[in-house]
Amino acid sequence: MPKPITDLIHHPYTPPPNFGAPQPGVYKASTVFFRDVDAMRARDWKTKQGYTYGLHGTPTTFTLEERLATLEGATGCLLVPSGLASIALVSFALLKQGDEVLIPDNAYGPNKALAQGELANFGITHRFYDAMNPDDLAAKLSDRTKLVWLEAAGSVTMEFPDLPALASLCRARGIVTVLDNTWGAGLAFRPFDFNGTGQGVDVSVHALTKYPSGGGDVLMGSVATCDERLHGALKLTHMRMGYGVGVGDVETLLRSLPSIELRYAAHDRSARKLADWLEGREEIAQVLHPALPNSPGHANWLRLCGATDLAAGLFSVVFDERFSSDQVDRFCNGLSLFKLGYSWGGPISLVVPYDIGLMRDPGVATWPHKGTLVRFSIGLEDVEDLRGDLEQALSTL
Ligand SMILES: Cc1ncc(COP(=O)(O)O)c(C=O)c1O
Repeated sequence: MPKPITDLIHHPYTPPPNFGAPQPGVYKASTVFFRDVDAMRARDWKTKQGYTYGLHGTPTTFTLEERLATLEGATGCLLVPSGLASIALVSFALLKQGDEVLIPDNAYGPNKALAQGELANFGITHRFYDAMNPDDLAAKLSDRTKLVWLEAAGSVTMEFPDLPALASLCRARGIVTVLDNTWGAGLAFRPFDFNGTGQGVDVSVHALTKYPSGGGDVLMGSVATCDERLHGALKLTHMRMGYGVGVGDVETLLRSLPSIELRYAAHDRSARKLADWLEGREEIAQVLHPALPNSPGHANWLRLCGATDLAAGLFSVVFDERFSSDQVDRFCNGLSLFKLGYSWGGPISLVVPYDIGLMRDPGVATWPHKGTLVRFSIGLEDVEDLRGDLEQALSTL
């Protein structure tokens, strides 16, 4: 059977007659015409049997949805205007007043903020759990828990949880699991069957902004699932909330997707070399990169991603506590190839200093480090040039 990346490139898209070409056609429309009133009344926006209105899909958005489903091993996929919008769509579609949602304390921050803000306003409660401690999740599950978020690796701090253990706790109680799969990108591991175990998550959200785009120039998100009932619920809310995506961005993503595996592997190779090198530097107290044996959750990463040996292009370092946060800011300012900027997955390497104390719930788990944390997203530059840049900035400390 071909690998997903081959299926992604040789995708069963049907071009207009006599117009086979490497890229699919690009169609844009708000209005879609119907042959007659009967056809207008008969069209159903819920399936892909026909087109009703631009917001409900065009041949171009349907093609991207199908390719992303191929990438992640899903049967249904929806596009939204950003990765954060995909998180919001899941929450609004699958939660209602009186429900509780559980979110890892090291999750992507705006997911937690949405729970503390809008979801709380709608009467939906939340609890944060320690993703590295399945017992903590087990203790927090209740009859009101209707959704559990998972994220691997953890945002910024890069701990790799035991995803199969967390997911099976929820499955045993019939609770829906949603994975923020932006880091794994459908490449490091298979989210819906955890590499052939047949036991995966129920829903996967993906910030296409990162590796699928690969350019640092597109914002988009997706929500994928193998569960028809969940897909139907998500699609209904997607329609009601008026989520649409620009066809220019869809075209860019269709152009980028065929090279995602090559780019992901290249980001990963360089990130690992630099993380390894930084581990040997005396200025650094801890390197947080799931493929490094000293990093939290390395054994979990090995079990889930050992077969692909993939680990994205992100890692963080904790500086030795003798360096003040001002000094670490100066280190970041002193880099020249690394740019200061959020997001990740693009060709240009990025750096961001974080204050983890402000990001964690003090009641969940104690952050064990005193030094300042800096997160790197490794781009596609020559790795020795990047190492040289890190070295010169470290020398100013
Ligand atoms: C893990 C993760 N999920 C989701 C998002 C949100 O993506 P977007 O920037 O497209 O809203 C981000 C963005 O940084 C992220 O890091």
